[in-house]
Amino acid sequence: PRHAARGADGAVRLAGADVTALAEQYGTPLFVVDEADFRARCAEHAAAYGDPSLVHYAAKAFLTAETARWVADEGLGLDVCTEGELRTALRGGFPPERITVHGNNKSRHELAAALDAGVGAVVVDSYVEIARLDELARARDVRADVMVRVTVGVEAHTHEFIATAHEDQKFGFSLASGDATEAVRRVLKSPGLHLVGLHSHIGSQIFDADGFELAARRVIGLLAELRDEHGEAVSDALGTVDLGGGMGIAYTTADAPRSPAWMAAELRAIVERESARVGLAPPRIAVEPGRAIAGPGTVTVYEVGTVKDVELGGGARRRYVSVDGGMSDNIRTALYDAHYDCRVVSRTAGTAPPVRSRVVGKHCESGDVVVRDCWLPADLAPGDLVAVAATGAYCYAMASAYNKVPRPAVVAVADGTSRPLLRRETLDDLARLEVG
Ligand code: LLP
Repeated sequence: PRHAARGADGAVRLAGADVTALAEQYGTPLFVVDEADFRARCAEHAAAYGDPSLVHYAAKAFLTAETARWVADEGLGLDVCTEGELRTALRGGFPPERITVHGNNKSRHELAAALDAGVGAVVVDSYVEIARLDELARARDVRADVMVRVTVGVEAHTHEFIATAHEDQKFGFSLASGDATEAVRRVLKSPGLHLVGLHSHIGSQIFDADGFELAARRVIGLLAELRDEHGEAVSDALGTVDLGGGMGIAYTTADAPRSPAWMAAELRAIVERESARVGLAPPRIAVEPGRAIAGPGTVTVYEVGTVKDVELGGGARRRYVSVDGGMSDNIRTALYDAHYDCRVVSRTAGTAPPVRSRVVGKHCESGDVVVRDCWLPADLAPGDLVAVAATGAYCYAMASAYNKVPRPAVVAVADGTSRPLLRRETLDDLARLEVG
């Protein structure tokens, strides 16, 4: 987070709030969200893309009614992919016309809820959905604005991207097979639907524009074909290309993400060049960053419970530091082999050199690792507080109550004060779900 500072006594403050005091007040594990950081990243993306409503924050990264209000205040749009995310946004008073609805298996009920709420657009993902949405829209005597999700055959993660002719995955309509062209034909033939654009999403934690470049080239190539085949009927769809999310962030000092301004300038140059190539006026660019907005400004604070040095043979040892959460509040290390860093936040380190440590959770399985490798004070002891940074995206959102460990609380800090966004789950909450 941008507003983190360590005092002379080693105690860390976040946006002016003392982390140790927060841990005492709310307990641990605790997610602490730097509200100003989150808002600043919204504002930076809005400025970079010229029009805030072209930036749709991806709710899946982290959403509460309150954070939906922050996103709304900053003027951004919102991408939701379930009724749960939609309802949370609406509860926060999010303007429905700025909401885009995603998902490969939207139920009739979810589509009806989206139409009844008056969402901005639905991104259609299958022939079944096109027919389903058309029927629901006609029953309501409305025309639903839709984008067609195109599978462009580009998969990008971090520094690499793979371009394949055909993608073996569940999302979207394949461009290579002709399904994307057919999907557009069906949308244009559906009286309940109005085509407003093409959408592609190529992956996550992307640092360069290369993957986006190939995706944009293919999507714009398709736009040109649609213009040639359908003429005026697709004019609204030529106005905007949605290139999805995936903009990378720094989880550790090894990551060097680009600024929103850099990425936006690259994307604009690519879209201008590719449009010129096929004789189209350059469309507006919409994007859907989740991680890049919610990720960097949040830390997870844990209390150290045990410190154990394990003999590995040949004189090698590994230090295991057990904390009071784990894979239930951060599954990303176990699931994606994600890298994080961990620091002590309740005091200064002793003078001894730090020890390479593995931070593990309290769950009953050995894959329950939070941070695979980090340097922690040699004198780290039970009761010390440690924090893992950049946990704002896909950590709470993917949290579970595995081993009947209740989900942590989430608090927002701003100007030295804190307020809860989510209270800690209790054992009673868990017991209440049981029947009989
Ligand atoms: N738009 C669409 C259509 C998406 O599917 C996603 C992410 C995003 C936008 C936002 O991507 P972002 O900017 O946050 O990378 N749980 C994984 C990430 C899965 C993302 C799925 N879709 C993780 O923890 O890394």
